[in-house]
Amino acid sequence: MFQPEVMLLLVILAVLGTPAFSANDYHGTTTGTPFCTSMPEGKNLTAVRMYVRNSVIMGIQVEHDGNQDVVNGYAEGTPVVLTLSDDEHVLWVFGTYRTYIQQIVLYTSRPRDQYFGSLKGPNEFSDYPQNADHVLKGFCGFYVRGGLRAIKFVWGSASGTCTE
Ligand SMILES: *[C@@H]1O[C@H](CO)[C@@H](O)[C@H](O)[C@H]1NC(C)=O
Repeated sequence: MFQPEVMLLLVILAVLGTPAFSANDYHGTTTGTPFCTSMPEGKNLTAVRMYVRNSVIMGIQVEHDGNQDVVNGYAEGTPVVLTLSDDEHVLWVFGTYRTYIQQIVLYTSRPRDQYFGSLKGPNEFSDYPQNADHVLKGFCGFYVRGGLRAIKFVWGSASGTCTE
């Protein structure tokens, strides 16, 4: 038996519970050269490589079935690699930014995590698929000469073509 006050409270909680970001949101500042990594149909991510210089993510490169995509941004600094096994997928992410994207953490289904960069930026974000069956398909973002300014995570079905 719901009192009107209880109903109102539930409505307020439902509104507050809505995440402040959507799956299509960029984290950081959408300035500079835009990019999206390749996301070939029916292929899973098999590796993610990020180049980190002075606590800034400089570039991102993905791999599908051992085929390397181009480096988006700059291959400068220290390469850090997450190699995924056949049935392993990235299910959620965490990161920080100040002027540049400074840290990205990928959490996989194994479960395990891989840190790219260090915890420096004051602005934190996390992201995950809207559909619980979906996994990380790739990245979009913006970079300038100093590094990545913004990042967006693209989620979709593991072997299908559907993305969010
Ligand atoms: C992609 O991942 C799904 C789910 O783990 C798996 O069923 C499928 O076989 C994988 N595709 C390839 C090409 O490895």
